[in-house]
Amino acid sequence: MSKNIFEGGSEENLIFRDERFLYPEFVPEKLPHRDAEIDSLVFALKPITAGKKPQNSIVLGRSGTGKTAAVKYVLKELEEFSDRAKSLYLNCFEFNTRHGVLTEISNFLGEPTPRRGIATDEAYSKLLAALKRASFTPIIVLDEVDQLLQGNEASKLFYDLLRVVEHEKNGFGLVLISNDFSFSTKLDARVKSSLAHQSITFEPYSPMQLKDILRERAQYAFHPNALDKEAINVAAAHAAKLGGDARIAIESLLKAGRLAERENVKKLLPQHLQQVFAEVDASGLKKYVSSLSEHERNLLLLVPSSSEIGSGELLEKYSASVDTPLTPRSFRSMLSKLESLNLIRANFTGKGVRGRTKKISLLVPKAAVLRELDQTK
Ligand SMILES: Nc1ncnc2c1ncn2[C@@H]1O[C@H](COP(=O)(O)OP(=O)(O)O)[C@@H](O)[C@H]1O
Ligand SMILES: [Mg+2]
Repeated sequence: MSKNIFEGGSEENLIFRDERFLYPEFVPEKLPHRDAEIDSLVFALKPITAGKKPQNSIVLGRSGTGKTAAVKYVLKELEEFSDRAKSLYLNCFEFNTRHGVLTEISNFLGEPTPRRGIATDEAYSKLLAALKRASFTPIIVLDEVDQLLQGNEASKLFYDLLRVVEHEKNGFGLVLISNDFSFSTKLDARVKSSLAHQSITFEPYSPMQLKDILRERAQYAFHPNALDKEAINVAAAHAAKLGGDARIAIESLLKAGRLAERENVKKLLPQHLQQVFAEVDASGLKKYVSSLSEHERNLLLLVPSSSEIGSGELLEKYSASVDTPLTPRSFRSMLSKLESLNLIRANFTGKGVRGRTKKISLLVPKAAVLRELDQTK
């Protein structure tokens, strides 16, 4: 009988003890350098444990600063601690309409509500009825909440939620998460003061902080001695350069580890990391490309591959390519969106002709920009 193609090779992994500790959805038990942010979330939600109303928060920070991980971790701890709290996590890439969000919340509250074949106002009434009967305080997380602003239903949804928050006697907690710092300025005052009562900011990680994070995750993911002593430094330095993004650091270790396993070597070396960086650097663009507007895509295409461009020059270039010129304000907001997703870096340089200018450079490989943006046109 011929040998099965799955036979042979080593079953023992030389590199990973358990690679799942490096998966993006894994929620670590320890989040180094996020104590203050976690405390703020605890403070906002703690009243629930005493049967009181929580405070609603908005969590802001660039991509890869640990927002999703910290919120999930806090809610897991809260639910373990108190039966009164139950949370629902919704990523607004998936639930990006008023209807989708409302039906999902009603379902979570125990009121079966189909997503199709039911009017949105009816879904909202079902939600209110279910809330009255609920024996716990719901906490709803809307992650990547800026996705809701794409359509025009967002403000209606926020008003629905506002009414719930204001009239619900038993409390209803809301945690909004956004990469976009200007998100809360896009909300009107009443919505903002009630739904985003407390704002918690996550700063990009420094190289030292990234090292601590990687060390913590690596001890569960890798066999002892499977990491070259320089590997963590190299991955941390790379991710620091690309905006202090922990996702890039962790994903680099995962991909490089897999490469080392395929080569059947005993150690993950810096060269393995070098080989996977281009792919990892492009993955942020892949993840967020669908959230970019036509204008943002075109602007990104104009950023040169290996040099910097002044913001004034970039605006001129952009204006030359379109019929209706951008206002400086919308130009700035597009730049800050691209920056929040770690697609570009924008640093202030001293003075330009018209006041402060920024130097813009690309943080993702140009080849990936061309590939991703052409495909989605
Ligand atoms: N302080 C930290 N400690 C351990 N892992 C972290 C920390 N911050 C972020 N991570 C990890 O980095 C990745 C990106 O974090 P994430 O929470 O998704 O960022 P964001 O939501 O801000 O884009 C995830 O795999 C997450 O588990
Ligand atoms: Mg996130």
